[in-house]
Amino acid sequence: MRAAKKARVVNMTSWVGSIGDKDMPGYYGYSASKAALNMLTRLCALDLKRDRVIVAAIHPGWVRTDMGGPNAPLSPEKSVRKLLATVDALTTRQSGLFLNVDGRELNW
Ligand SMILES: NC(=O)c1ccc[n+]([C@@H]2O[C@H](COP(=O)([O-])OP(=O)(O)OC[C@H]3O[C@@H](n4cnc5c(N)ncnc54)[C@H](OP(=O)(O)O)[C@@H]3O)[C@@H](O)[C@H]2O)c1
Repeated sequence: MRAAKKARVVNMTSWVGSIGDKDMPGYYGYSASKAALNMLTRLCALDLKRDRVIVAAIHPGWVRTDMGGPNAPLSPEKSVRKLLATVDALTTRQSGLFLNVDGRELNW
């Protein structure tokens, strides 16, 4: 990673891990684990800054997978396409952030 030109670590988080935007009950374990992952992302980003490794937590959108279910608006292919474009465009200023699949910053 240190030797790579555009080294990135992307942690697959979820919007449900946002404490600030939390407005419905349930999913205790899942939500807490994603909030913890967001914190780990921030810490890793600080640690790896000197090595110019970008670390970001990205929410893939609501996706039609086993987990997302059939009513999710995004196909896995579309989510991955958006994700790759966002990952490719990440800048060092975005390291340590909690981002939507389109690169928009999300509320912690
Ligand atoms: N789908 C959404 O709308 C959505 C929204 C926000 C965030 N996410 C995040 O996106 C990621 C992928 O979710 P998904 O929707 O693709 O979920 P999924 O349909 O439930 O698929 C989960 C995948 O993870 C594998 N897996 C589960 N436990 C594992 C373990 N202990 N070791 C190795 N592999 C394991 C499963 O393998 P098997 O099939 O072999 O069990 C499966 O391939 C997750 O981090 C999820 O939190 C998804």
